[in-house]
Formats: sequence, C-alpha cells, structure tokens
Amino acid sequence: MLRQTSMLSILMMVGFAGLSQAVSPIETNFLRSLVGVQSESDSFRELHEGHRDLQTTTRVTSLSTDPDAPQITNLTQWMTQAKTNAILGAKTITQLSLPGVNRAGLNFINNNQTLLKTQLTAMGFNSSDQNQFGRLIQEIYHEVLVGNPQPLPGALRLGARYIDLRVAGDPKNATKLFLSNSHLSSIPLEQCLKEINVFLLENPSEILIVDINHDYNSLGNAGQQASTAAIANYVKLYVNATFILPISKLSAPISSYGGAFFTGFDFNSSFTNAVIKHSVNATAADSPIAVVNNLQTFLSSGYSTYQPTTYDFIKSDPYITSTFTTITSTLRNITGLANQIESCKQKPRGETRDNENKRNKLRENLEKRYSTIRDVLVSDQVVPAFRVGSAQLSNVLFLDMVRRVSAVQNQVRIVSIDDFNVRNSLEIIQLNILRFL
Ligand SMILES: *[C@@H]1O[C@H](CO)[C@@H](O)[C@H](O)[C@H]1NC(C)=O
Ligand SMILES: *[C@@H]1O[C@H](CO)[C@@H](O)[C@H](O)[C@H]1NC(C)=O
Ligand SMILES: *[C@@H]1O[C@H](CO)[C@@H](O)[C@H](O)[C@H]1NC(C)=O
Ligand SMILES: *[C@@H]1O[C@H](CO)[C@@H](O)[C@H](O)[C@H]1NC(C)=O
Ligand SMILES: *[C@@H]1O[C@H](CO)[C@@H](O)[C@H](O)[C@H]1NC(C)=O
Ligand SMILES: *[C@@H]1O[C@H](CO)[C@@H](O)[C@H](O)[C@H]1NC(C)=O
Ligand SMILES: *[C@@H]1O[C@H](CO)[C@@H](O)[C@H](O)[C@H]1NC(C)=O
Ligand SMILES: *[C@@H]1O[C@H](CO)[C@@H](O)[C@H](O)[C@H]1NC(C)=O
Repeated sequence: MLRQTSMLSILMMVGFAGLSQAVSPIETNFLRSLVGVQSESDSFRELHEGHRDLQTTTRVTSLSTDPDAPQITNLTQWMTQAKTNAILGAKTITQLSLPGVNRAGLNFINNNQTLLKTQLTAMGFNSSDQNQFGRLIQEIYHEVLVGNPQPLPGALRLGARYIDLRVAGDPKNATKLFLSNSHLSSIPLEQCLKEINVFLLENPSEILIVDINHDYNSLGNAGQQASTAAIANYVKLYVNATFILPISKLSAPISSYGGAFFTGFDFNSSFTNAVIKHSVNATAADSPIAVVNNLQTFLSSGYSTYQPTTYDFIKSDPYITSTFTTITSTLRNITGLANQIESCKQKPRGETRDNENKRNKLRENLEKRYSTIRDVLVSDQVVPAFRVGSAQLSNVLFLDMVRRVSAVQNQVRIVSIDDFNVRNSLEIIQLNILRFL
C-alpha cells in the first residue's frame, strides 16, 4: 500500500508540474471553482490536496487577463459557460474535447460463480486450479471488471459529457436491462437514465453523448443480448423527449441547443446514429506506456487507415486491457506462488531447527513476492492490473503526452476515462481553450 501511495504521489507531482507551465486565467478560474464542486468519491479529497498544490504553483506565475476568454467557473455547467464565448459557441459538438466515463455507473458486479468457472475454463484453468484459487481470482476479477468508482451523477457534475453505458438483459427476461461488464450487475439501466434526465433538467444547456451498447465478452456473459428495441424503450420511458437530440444537431453550433444524443445501441440507435470511431485496439496492451504509445500513433497518424472511414466522433480510451496471455500468465504465477506458500507451511517430521528457520525465511520471501504481484498497481509488468490504479497511471501518462505533442492535442475529442476524476476531466476540458482561444 505504501508503495502504491508514493508511486501515485510522484505521478501527481509530475502531472501538476506539467500543468503549472500552462496556467492561464481561465484555468485559475476553473481551479478556483473546483472548491465548490461536490463529490461523494475519494477523488474529491485528492482534488483538494491537488488544488492546494496548484494554488501554490499558480501564485508564482504572473497572469495576463484576456477579456475574450470565457469565464468557466463551474464544471457542472462548463459547456453552458463555454457557449457564451463567440469562438467556442460557434463550434460543433464533434469539434470539442469531451471528458467521458467508461462503463459509467457500474460500481459493482454480481457474484456469479457459474459464469466465473466457465470463464476460467475458457482461459485454460483446470478444476484444481479453480478450486485452489477461486476466491482470489474472483477478487481480481472484480477489480478488473469494475472500472469507475465514481457514481454517474458525480461524474456529470464533474464535467463528464460522454457516457458509455454497457447493458445486458436479465437471464430470465431479455427486455429487463442492467449495467454489465461481462458479469451482470443489479444496477438497472433506468437508474442511469433517470440520473441523466435529472441532470439535464437542472442543466438544460449542457450537451451529452450517451452511448448505450450491449455488453460483450469473448469469454462469456451472464446476461442476455440487449436488443436495440429494448434499449430504445428504456430511453423513451425514462428520458424526457425534449432532451433527446436529433442527429442534425451534430452539425449545429453548440450555442444553439442543449440535451443528449442517444447513440450506440450497437450502431443501430433509433435516436441518433452517430458513429463513434474508437482508438482501434489501443488499449490492448500490458503496460500504461504501451497504451499511450498506441494512442499517440493512432491520433497523430490522422487515423485514416482505421475503419470506419466516415465517422462523427473520435474516441480515445487511455485505460489498459491486458492481453489474454498476460492475464493467464499472471493468474498462473499467483496460483503457483500460493501453492508454494502452502507447502512451505507444512512442517516435516523431525525437522531441524536450522531447516525450520530456512523454511520460514523462504515462506516470508514467497509471501513478499505474492503481495507484490497481488498489489498489482506497483508494477505495470504485472497485469491484470488493479484496473482503477492502472487506469490512473495511463490517464496521467496520456494527459502528459497530450500536453507535449501538439499533433495529438489537436485530435483529442472524446476521452473515455476508466478512473473518472476532476483532474482528468479538467485537463480534457482545458484542451478546448488551449486549441481554440
Ligand atoms: C455550479 O452549478 C450548479 C448548477 O448547475 C450549482 O448547483 C452549483 O452550486 C454551482 N457551483 C458553484 C461553485 O457555483
Ligand atoms: C450466471 O451466469 C450463467 C451463464 O454462465 C447464467 O446462465 C446464469 O443465469 C447466471 N446467473 C445469474 C443469477 O445471473
Ligand atoms: C492443473 O493445472 C496445473 C497448472 O498447469 C497443473 O500443475 C496440474 O497438474 C493440473 N491438475 C490437473 C488435475 O490436471
Ligand atoms: C420483462 O421486463 C420488462 C422490462 O422491465 C417488463 O416490462 C416485463 O413485464 C417483464 N416481463 C416479465 C414476463 O416479467
Ligand atoms: C419535459 O421537459 C419539458 C421542458 O423542460 C417540460 O415542460 C415537461 O413538463 C417535461 N415533461 C415531462 C413528462 O417530464
Ligand atoms: C436496427 O433497427 C431496425 C429498426 O429499428 C431493426 O429493424 C433492425 O432489426 C435493427 N438491427 C439490429 C442488428 O438490431
Ligand atoms: C483489434 O481487435 C479485434 C477484436 O478485439 C481483433 O479482431 C482485431 O484483429 C484487432 N486488430 C488489430 C490490428 O490488432
Ligand atoms: C510469470 O512467471 C514467469 C517465471 O517467473 C515470468 O517469466 C513471467 O514474466 C511471469 N508472468 C507475469 C505476467 O508476470
């Protein structure tokens, strides 16, 4: 735990040092406004700490004041405030950089032993592996599958404008939809839609992209396929029709409207068939830096070689999806270590004092290695990583690259974040000001 903390604080320092180089009055306003932001998550506490750091660094910078800059002082209404600026207000939603929440609203998944066993079998684990180590594997599974601890209303208030919702049908009723990530959760889709509706009721000038798709995992899913029609029914039931935007608004200036585009539905939304082009397979890598390198290639190459060639939005996902080989290798290594630790605990008959000491020493060493592997955040060599932790790592590296590489900075549109927090959100929003003003 100690090593996790120090690693993160170093990264935070690096992140903030980078940020302080480009402090503008708008950013200062942003930062000042953050004190008023309410959040139920830990990231808020982190933010306050970060905010203090930033105040210290901004104080030594002399600030020029640009009367044309928008007074963005509130992340909850950042777009409403940006619209009052002539240049930003004339942009279309597809031109802006938007912070997004990956697998929004999914804070836990249901325990399904049957499915877990099926998935472990598909990964090549035999029944003795599964029985010996089932509990730990399940813990890791939960950490890997649940990306965003931030509840949806909190993320919206902190500036999220792209909402990724993955859903699947109840095993007994395919039209009853729940959030899902390979394993079903018991969070009903309607809960998220109601939260979106409330947000738009309170902030009708904000613009959201709500991307709803059927959840799919090659190793198997607990829920049934969610149909386009079932998803559309939910949207109609729980979102006020006046908030649902037609596709024509994609090319209108943002200052002229507010509401939500409901897209996705596996590319068959009956509301807005906006095409969102992904950073093709960029996240399929074992280390944060590999993901960042992939994204850099994707964004600075103009991404024209990737399908589809016509699209409305470009989306970058800076989190990590470790390769199948690494996942199985890690689980095998953990299993192997646990077995060794178990056998080290057996005291052989007539063991000498000397041998007993050696055995205990070996056990201690094995346990140390075991906790290093278990504490996966400390090493990007060891994946499946604690997903929130590794997402944090790749978000920080990604944002640093965005700041340094202008070819990338100019291409960043939707950034779908696994560990959504105020700092990440703020950095993405700021790109609009850096690029256009
Ligand atoms: C930001 O705006 C929301 C409403 O959109 C409001 O509830 C909140 O108080 C505002 N925060 C600050 C610091 O002004
Ligand atoms: C658990 O997953 C299996 C699929 O592997 C599915 O058939 C079953 O209905 C699920 N159970 C629950 C309670 O969701
Ligand atoms: C299960 O797999 C492990 C690791 O490959 C192996 O050591 C063990 O002998 C296997 N057990 C059975 C019952 O096949
Ligand atoms: C299935 O779920 C839908 C949506 O919640 C509900 O309207 C319907 O009554 C359910 N059907 C049954 C047979 O329970
Ligand atoms: C939908 O929103 C409009 C405009 O805010 C409001 O007048 C209307 O009452 C709402 N309808 C429902 C069913 O909530
Ligand atoms: C897409 O939607 C249309 C009309 O809503 C429907 O006829 C079609 O079957 C859907 N396709 C898929 C793949 O769901
Ligand atoms: C990208 O991922 C898809 C599915 O995950 C796979 O079929 C495809 O081969 C991958 N493409 C590349 C270039 O790796
Ligand atoms: C698993 O252990 C082997 C042997 O020590 C090592 O080469 C490999 O890198 C480990 N795998 C992972 C993912 O750490």
